[in-house]
Amino acid sequence: MQTPVTIVILAAGLGTRMKSRKAKVLHRAGGKTLVEHVVDTALQLAPAERVFVVVGHQAEEVRQTVSPQGVRFFEQREQKGTGHAVLVGREQLATLGGYLVILYGDCPLLRAETLRSLIARAEGGSAAGVLLTALMEDPTGYGRVIRDARGHVAAIVEQKAASPEQLAVREANMGIYCLRADLFWKHAGEIRPDNPAHEYYLTDMVEILNRAGHYLEAIQVADAKEVLGINNRQELAEVDRLFRDRKVRELMLGGVTIEKPETVTVDAGVTIGMDSVVEPFAQILGNTKIGENCRIGACAIVRDSELADEVEIGPFTMVGTSRVERGAHVGPFARLRLENEVGPGAHVGNFVELKKARMGAGAKANHLAYLGDAQIGAASNIGAGTITCNYDGTLKHVTRIGERAFVGSNSTLVAPVEIGDGAYLAAGSVITEPVPADALALGRARQTVKPDWARKRRQLGKK
Ligand code: UD1
Ligand code: CA
Repeated sequence: MQTPVTIVILAAGLGTRMKSRKAKVLHRAGGKTLVEHVVDTALQLAPAERVFVVVGHQAEEVRQTVSPQGVRFFEQREQKGTGHAVLVGREQLATLGGYLVILYGDCPLLRAETLRSLIARAEGGSAAGVLLTALMEDPTGYGRVIRDARGHVAAIVEQKAASPEQLAVREANMGIYCLRADLFWKHAGEIRPDNPAHEYYLTDMVEILNRAGHYLEAIQVADAKEVLGINNRQELAEVDRLFRDRKVRELMLGGVTIEKPETVTVDAGVTIGMDSVVEPFAQILGNTKIGENCRIGACAIVRDSELADEVEIGPFTMVGTSRVERGAHVGPFARLRLENEVGPGAHVGNFVELKKARMGAGAKANHLAYLGDAQIGAASNIGAGTITCNYDGTLKHVTRIGERAFVGSNSTLVAPVEIGDGAYLAAGSVITEPVPADALALGRARQTVKPDWARKRRQLGKK
């Protein structure tokens, strides 16, 4: 690609058929809003200062969603058609030469690769523009592509205006164009709302440019699914499924074993290293990074987390915004709620919840515990039923446990509290005071045994 490219993404419409209070492009598929996908693709072809999003319905929300990506905006206050949507940006866009590429915010599966071939076709000839089309089984609702004897595009006829012969054409306009910016802006003012809908149709540019002595070409996408636009929630689910398929296929070809891939949900931004295994029904979401040789158990949910190599996440485990180091085991049935760090080789077992907790290397909490705002040193062992009382009703407090400490089962650690290296806490203790290194702390009533008490009681009952 030598010619500079300006990209305009049309995203002003409400999308009535979604039956939603939310603008269509803000609905999610494949783990992102539709418009974010399109912006991601656009940014693979043009720098952010040449990517423009036309906003209208819920303009502010759409802006907020994609402005972190650095793109620019135009506001189309009234939706007067696809041509009008581009024309609102005229002042800024007309100064930018090269190619003008038009995309839709509701067409998120389109790949940068496809757009590259569209642009390459434009660069390879002297057409005023190249459009992307698809041969469809049922093109109902789409503009039909009418070609002339040379195979050039003579016109695009909208469904409502098409004659029976034109309706029989199966080649449909996908609304994705690469146009020569100079010619487009020279003639854009000639678009007239002279149709039953009184809209400014971008598609009228085809005939306008033809009349001015230019020609347009069209290329067909190999797989019409790639240009599936979303109009309703059923199509949203279909596009979501296609995103999931695309992602798991990409992962499998990259050396990840995925068991029953049709049941697994992996968001677009996730990376997984070689020889890792993902079991059925796992969900790996957000910006998760997983190393090599890991195992993600059945029905586990991992979100926005980082897993080093050789990590095992057992079935039915939830991991959120946490870091798990090499060789650690978490689950089954564990919950790393948020901002945890599980050290190398550490074990977090069933029904253990961690929140803002740090487990040192080789530390273990194998069963039934709540460790919140807790720092647990290397090689320490947390017994079953241990609870950190981190919350006093107003503030959160920290529990610090040194290295090689042994916390007996059913201990209650009332934070803030500190346990030294190598200390022992007797099972069932309520710990409210600091425990020095290598000490034994007993925080429970001493057991009393009354010999023969039970037998005597039974005899009393017989009298
Ligand atoms: C358009 C094309 C049609 C093509 C189809 C492909 C025209 C006249 N027709 O029809 O040939 O087959 O796309 O999907 O262009 N939008 C705005 N502002 C507006 C109008 C639309 O931002 O004023 C946005 C919508 O939010 C949507 C996109 O442009 O993302 C397409 O608009 P839509 O009304 O759905 O066009 P179609 O009638 O489907
Ligand atoms: Ca449409």
